[in-house]
Amino acid sequence: MNDVVKSSVASYQSGFSLPQKLYTSREAFDFDMQHVFKKHWIHVGTVADVKRKGDYRVIQIDNNSIIIVRGQDDEVRAFYNSCRHRGAKVCVEDKGHVPKLVCPYHQWVYELDGSLIHSSRMGEGFNCDASGLKPVALESIGGLLFMNLSENPDMAALEQMRSELEPFAAFYQLDKLKVAHEADLIENANWKLVVENNRECYHCGANHPELLRVWPPYGVGFGWPDDPKEKQAAEEKLNALYDAKIPEWQNMGMPYEIVEMDENRWYRAARMLLTQGAVSQTMDGQPAVKKLLPPFSEPDNSSLSMWTHPNAWLHFTCDHILSTSVLPLSEDKTLVRTRWMVREDAVEGEDYDLSNLTHTWIQTNDQDRMLAEITHAGCLTDGYIPGPYSEDSESLLQHFTDWYVDQIKQQL
Ligand code: FES
Ligand SMILES: [Fe+2]
Repeated sequence: MNDVVKSSVASYQSGFSLPQKLYTSREAFDFDMQHVFKKHWIHVGTVADVKRKGDYRVIQIDNNSIIIVRGQDDEVRAFYNSCRHRGAKVCVEDKGHVPKLVCPYHQWVYELDGSLIHSSRMGEGFNCDASGLKPVALESIGGLLFMNLSENPDMAALEQMRSELEPFAAFYQLDKLKVAHEADLIENANWKLVVENNRECYHCGANHPELLRVWPPYGVGFGWPDDPKEKQAAEEKLNALYDAKIPEWQNMGMPYEIVEMDENRWYRAARMLLTQGAVSQTMDGQPAVKKLLPPFSEPDNSSLSMWTHPNAWLHFTCDHILSTSVLPLSEDKTLVRTRWMVREDAVEGEDYDLSNLTHTWIQTNDQDRMLAEITHAGCLTDGYIPGPYSEDSESLLQHFTDWYVDQIKQQL
């Protein structure tokens, strides 16, 4: 391990933001790629991204270009985007629809399951069987795709997450959804600052006017009023709302017990109630899509959120799902990719207006971009000193930075 990372981690204090160089240095970025993004289960999208047989997506993680493709057997698989002839990228475009994967260089042809089926002029002795695309571990958890670049992916960790998150995700039947919109945002900030910003809503009141039209002001992950009496009143009010809603969740078969991050869980799922009569994450709180998601016959004020370390958050309402993955580009640049999913038979212009569907989170993401960028810029100054997390509202940041530092300590 390099000295910058080693000496930085020695000064880390749990409950405080990270030592400067862990956010800003190239050395820490190299470590993060090697020991976080090439080792853990990374959220790379959903089955709706590759809806039809032959649909593919290309994901870039550090030096690795990965093809995610749906085969003729409907399986979604992942492969290194590197031809087994002389290594050229087989898929040059970021996404597409193909009957076979054909390398543009010398036209070797791969089946959608990665097997090589044609290569001219290679002579009698050449064996196609041994030259399929190199596979990458890819797992679907209720339609949410997680990829692992390790040679020995931690399947126990994956299965543990599956057992707890699959019931939440499966309820929404992602195989019956399509991507209505995808937006890439490049933020001039380290990926950990992007993730930290996402793990708290301390900043929401002052920064997210659109989101706060429908999200509750208080609750788990949001924090509470400072005044003890006000806090008690807010808690009682919220508890009463949940107590009244739980029988409905039980009737609909919607899991609702919170799955909390702890020393064994690097993921979290929480069902909450939208506020002020809202049933969707729109400016007026009304559904953005006329055709509700398959399990809903009526608009519903339930909202499900999920978070997974190191790189994802998701929000589910009765009419659409939002999935976001964070893909680091360098120590100070991060790609934040967001997809809005709706029912597959919903028609743009008839059943939904795209700008109404996307407005709240386009604004929210841009506000979060600004917050991550000013934090990165401030962390670069000689005056930066790691600062304390709020116990009330920022406990998930402590979980994240503890988890991250643990990844470093495991390598020491
Ligand atoms: S490098 Fe792909 S066919 Fe030659
Ligand atoms: Fe935010």
